[in-house]
Amino acid sequence: MLPSSILLQRALKNSAGDLCHSLPEKQHELTDLIKSLLKKNNATLISHYYTSADVQRLTDESNGCISDSLEMARYGQDCDAELLIVAGVRFMGETAKILSPEKRVLMPDLNATCSLDTGCPIEEFTAFCDAHPDYTVVVYANTSAAVKARSDWVVTSSIALEVVEHLTALGKKIIWAPDKHLGHYIQQTTGAEMLMWNGSCIVHDEFKAHELEKLKNIYPDAAILVHPESPAAVVKLADFVGSTSALIKAAKTRSETTLIVATDKGIFYKMQQAVPDKILLEAPTGGTSATCKSCAMCPWMAMNDLQSIALTLMERSTDKEIFINESLRKKALYPLQRMLDFSASL
Ligand code: 13P
Ligand code: SF4
Repeated sequence: MLPSSILLQRALKNSAGDLCHSLPEKQHELTDLIKSLLKKNNATLISHYYTSADVQRLTDESNGCISDSLEMARYGQDCDAELLIVAGVRFMGETAKILSPEKRVLMPDLNATCSLDTGCPIEEFTAFCDAHPDYTVVVYANTSAAVKARSDWVVTSSIALEVVEHLTALGKKIIWAPDKHLGHYIQQTTGAEMLMWNGSCIVHDEFKAHELEKLKNIYPDAAILVHPESPAAVVKLADFVGSTSALIKAAKTRSETTLIVATDKGIFYKMQQAVPDKILLEAPTGGTSATCKSCAMCPWMAMNDLQSIALTLMERSTDKEIFINESLRKKALYPLQRMLDFSASL
């Protein structure tokens, strides 16, 4: 095996030419190269649970952070690194930049978006909010910096219930955007008065309740764990509903030894590590005639791979950097920081 310093020299020597061709082909050499580039650039890798097992393994081995979107935001703010490599989707990189303007934030692919973000354009959202001035605007973290800036509160799925309960206790009426399924779940659980934006996650929207029931009939002793971006009929069948980190925690604490999990497949890497002796089954997204029965995989999360992470670190190009206009950043910071402070006070 070649020492990482030699791999680094070789890769960088060609950096004026085609960088792709200078990447080592063997996976362990590529990961060694990335680890030395991370060190050399005082950088840290922050990855979401939905990235591939390869990316998560590398994140673990380089002492980075693998987590849900709330913890990704916190970690980026608290760590000492000067450069954050965010392996996730664009709103996660933007959140990191809003919270840490002094750090450079690079993403392996800036085209990695999210259907919730693209389904909530700022102009229409502003008009919606302006039409209901007496409502408190609560937006999910899966939104653009501009939408966050128009909100009173930002929440992630791991803190949404608590924030809405808090606002309801204060007698507030709520505009909720963009995920209608998460909004519906929160409304049902808290009894809050909520006006809902009509957005959804293309991955969780695909879970099928009738197929899930069939699977449960085959495994009657299994517990069903569901992310709240799933449709109401799927949430109704759940033994536990929660954010990605809450699902992993539930996998540990539940007494059942078989778990059916309705969220992106990427979560199985960390979940199986947490419960090595349990059987984890993917909740179905397709019926009997479907070519793929369990296809819950976010196409944008999949844009993060080892090659693109290596290239991002080698080039450190502004083409892959998150920039946010300072006055917009300050406006978006307020509701975001409010969420982090609220979460710290719980
Ligand atoms: P979490 O906040 O639960 O990590 O969810 C983020 C996300 O994009 C889920 O689809
Ligand atoms: Fe967005 Fe869904 Fe992908 Fe999460 S899984 S990033 S909500 S499209």
